[in-house]
Amino acid sequence: MSYNELISVVQETNRPPGGLATIHEVAAKAFIRGESRILDIGCSTGFTAIEFARLTAAETVGIDINEASIAIARARAVRANTPSATFEVADAKALPFKDGTFDLVFCGNVTSLIDDQSQALKEYLRVLRPNGFLAAVPMYYLEPPPKDLVDKVRSAIQVPIAVKYKREATDFFRSTGLDLVHQSDWAFDQKSDTDITTFCRNILGQIDDTRFESDAWRTLNNVYVSYMSLFRDNLSHMGYSVMILRRDAGIDEGELFTGTRR
Ligand SMILES: C[S@@+](CC[C@H](N)C(=O)[O-])C[C@H]1O[C@@H](n2cnc3c(N)ncnc32)[C@H](O)[C@@H]1O
Repeated sequence: MSYNELISVVQETNRPPGGLATIHEVAAKAFIRGESRILDIGCSTGFTAIEFARLTAAETVGIDINEASIAIARARAVRANTPSATFEVADAKALPFKDGTFDLVFCGNVTSLIDDQSQALKEYLRVLRPNGFLAAVPMYYLEPPPKDLVDKVRSAIQVPIAVKYKREATDFFRSTGLDLVHQSDWAFDQKSDTDITTFCRNILGQIDDTRFESDAWRTLNNVYVSYMSLFRDNLSHMGYSVMILRRDAGIDEGELFTGTRR
């Protein structure tokens, strides 16, 4: 069973690197409020867009190229009673929106998975309002990873991911010429085998197990644990940055009397 097939069965929510804490950091640092219009690129099954809508009732549009994920996201928004979160099937490289329509364009760990990344970035900037915020959460290696580990991850997610380090991953977004108004840098937490088995058991516990014979259930659990262990091994070499950039942040003339947190 491929990882994508597995995910459609277990229906684990897809979150940006750092999860809920990252979403809350972006909402606060990008000054999201009820009147904001937010675009979530590569929204997958909708967790981020729904959380933005729950926080502020901001009008939030999630787009993803995967139709099955969008169908799940729509159903999840109904269950969460968040009518201000809506979802569309769309390609990040050709966004179906007018110029200058969003206060926040959020791209978690998505852009590095897109074949023409420069075209996607051009589109994010096109739909951003003049004073809008672009938030990105690029992931990168903190140290050279074992080659066979990267090969296994590539074949599990069926994407030929490139091995990138912090400078290259963050410079890509700085190349927009926008002002960087916030950046926090993180390493992924180390997780034990017990953390993984407990997590997988909890997620599988949410689905209807009467659909499966007990052998099939055990196999599903074992496959899930083995994918999560592979990702844990890979992420143990990785970190990510929460970056918030703003067009015309008003700091171009320099600032003199700034402070340092104590
Ligand atoms: C790692 S997952 C989502 C990550 C999560 N939303 C986040 O914030 O990090 C990447 C998602 O991007 C979607 N995706 C990949 N290429 C895309 C494209 N060209 N346009 C829109 N979505 C795309 C995939 O279908 C998948 O749901």
